[in-house]
Amino acid sequence: MKRIDVKVFTIATALAVVLSVSLSARAQDASATFKSKCAGCHGADGTGSAMGKKMGAHDFTTADVQGMSDAQLTDIITNGKNKMPKYGSLKPEEIQGLVAYIRTLKR
Ligand code: HEC
Repeated sequence: MKRIDVKVFTIATALAVVLSVSLSARAQDASATFKSKCAGCHGADGTGSAMGKKMGAHDFTTADVQGMSDAQLTDIITNGKNKMPKYGSLKPEEIQGLVAYIRTLKR
C-alpha cells in the first residue's frame, strides 16, 4: 500500500513539473510573439509606440483595455479592428497566450 502511494506521488509530481514547464514555455512564446509581431505598434511594454498611438492603439496598461473581456481581446486580435491588423492565422492557443500576456501588462 505504502509503495503504491509513493509511486502515485512520484507520477503526480513528475506530471506537475512537466505541466508547469510547458506553461512557462508558452508564456515565453507569447512574450516573444508579442515582441516580434505586436510591439512595433503597441510597444514592448504595451503602452503603444509613437506609430501605434498615431494609428489609434490604446495603452494596454490602462483600465480601458484591461476592462475589455478576454473574448473582446481575442476577437480584436483574431479579426482586427480599424488599423489593427487581423492575426487569424495564429493558432487559437497562441492568441490565448497573447491575451494572457496582455493581462500581465496591467499596471
Ligand atoms: C500595424 C500596427 C499594429 C500591430 C502590428 C498590432 N496592432 Fe493591435 N492595434 C492597433 C491599433 C491601431 C489598434 C486600435 C484599434 C481601434 O480601436 O481602432 C489596436 C488594438 C488592439 C487591441 C485592443 C485594445 C486597443 O488598443 O484598442 C488589442 C488587444 C491588440 N491591438 C492586440 C494586438 C496584438 C496581440 C498584436 C500582435 C499579434 C497587435 N495588436 C499588433 C495596431 C496594431
